[in-house]
Amino acid sequence: MEKKLKKIKEQVTECTNCELSQTRTNSVPGKGNFKSDVIFVGEAPGKNEDIKGEPFIGIAGKKLSSALENAGISREQVYITNIVKCRPPKNRVPTIIERDTCKNYLEKEIQIIKPEIICILGNTAFKSLLDGKEIIKFRGKIVKKNDQLYFLTIHPAATIYNQKLISVLKKDMKKLFKLIEEIKNKKKIKIDIDYSS
Ligand code: URA
Repeated sequence: MEKKLKKIKEQVTECTNCELSQTRTNSVPGKGNFKSDVIFVGEAPGKNEDIKGEPFIGIAGKKLSSALENAGISREQVYITNIVKCRPPKNRVPTIIERDTCKNYLEKEIQIIKPEIICILGNTAFKSLLDGKEIIKFRGKIVKKNDQLYFLTIHPAATIYNQKLISVLKKDMKKLFKLIEEIKNKKKIKIDIDYSS
């Protein structure tokens, strides 16, 4: 499992499949515990991530870490990645072409880790993975699609300029990890939105 993830990491590092490869400093593969029950999926690397080649290490990353810590979880326990693995210039939202070109890396990460649940962070991941929009209206909800569970929450960057959203993110993280416990204890989970049927 670790070997397979390492291979994807190498592929991401060398990837030149889209134009973002021409403007990036480093590509940013997913990082974390390959045995994690949850994969967190953000949008795309920002400036700090581009410099270091690691996901969520800037201000948004600090917000994510502190919401995780508040739920009693450390970053090292989970796996964190993005829809797009290279920084779009000026942090613009990645285009559909960029998202589609990068999609196979995330699909492979999911296939290898087989998480109990995928935590969607913000609108770009919501749109890309579930064709959703306005995550603020759906945050805190549990979705099922093709036998995979998803948990929806806001992007941690949204909490930077809106203090009220910090407590929203913290609340959602607590709910997520309670949910993971319930899944592992084989309790019946109430699905809010089911795309399977
Ligand atoms: N925002 C994201 O969506 N991903 C990162 O890795 C950093 C900031």
